Amino acid sequence: MSVETLIRQIPKAELHIHIEGSLEPELMLEIAERNGVKLRYRSVDELRRAYNFSDLQSFLDVYYAGASVLRKERDFYDMTAAYLRRAAADNVRHAEIFFDPQTHTGRGIAFETVINGITAALRDGPISTRLILCFLRHLSAESAMETLEQALPFKDRLVAVGLDSSEVGNPPSKFAAVFTRARSEGLRAVAHAGEEGPPSYIREALDILGVSRIDHGVRCVEDSQLVGELAARRIPLTVCPLSNVKLRVFRSIKDHNLRTLLRRGIVATINSDDPAYFGGYVDLTESEVRQLARNSFEASFLSAEEKATYIQPA
Ligand code: HPA
Ligand code: ZN
Repeated sequence: MSVETLIRQIPKAELHIHIEGSLEPELMLEIAERNGVKLRYRSVDELRRAYNFSDLQSFLDVYYAGASVLRKERDFYDMTAAYLRRAAADNVRHAEIFFDPQTHTGRGIAFETVINGITAALRDGPISTRLILCFLRHLSAESAMETLEQALPFKDRLVAVGLDSSEVGNPPSKFAAVFTRARSEGLRAVAHAGEEGPPSYIREALDILGVSRIDHGVRCVEDSQLVGELAARRIPLTVCPLSNVKLRVFRSIKDHNLRTLLRRGIVATINSDDPAYFGGYVDLTESEVRQLARNSFEASFLSAEEKATYIQPA
């Protein structure tokens, strides 16, 4: 079996996927049309041409524009259902999915509309899932706290809170209070850190936010003590190599440090981040693929019993 076939066929968990980043151009344009939303982009080709990014911010500008077509519960349902169908076809057996409520509540869409549409699709979907609410870190700590308040009546639908959007200048410590509150309500925590930001942001996410996993985290290698601690504590990194190349965190897939992370004993996992925008393939050996698939279940928020049903012996 080729490694490409193995990658596709091996049962795996996906732990770093922004549902708004799964919206493919075709569905985006269809939803824009039925909602009468005018997009800057008029065709699938024009959209795909806009997916030529220079850094995280240049991507986020297009990503928030794309999300503006989503207005009704049905739109969130259709987007989520489409992702789950594609993930299942790739043998993703379990997905822990991010959503960004502030991207929508900031445009006057009710929190309930967003969460009801997404969770209805998860309930009807073909695979096991959990939902993670992400705060937008370019917005204020007060806005994050208001979002948590809106979410608490629905907390049984959430497994964790997370932190995404523009990293540099918005350190994890800015969100200490809201993460403390979320964890006191029984939610787990994750955070994007060390994608474009320095290793000190990873340290803050661990020590101040109390995260169980780091999203991206690739810049940890600049601090060897931090690498040792991540490995010793088995704090997983949800790495997104294709996203990192598209957003120019690494110049090419050959320059990516995934292999270094694995060799240094870090529980790295491979994820798609925003699959509609980043696409593509990663070059791995068979044993790396098997290791990464085991890591993906180990790093999930499933119970020990649930993990055991997915993890194949080495
Ligand atoms: N980083 C930060 N924010 C994001 C990302 C990412 O990779 N994807 C969607 N929002
Ligand atoms: Zn991400």
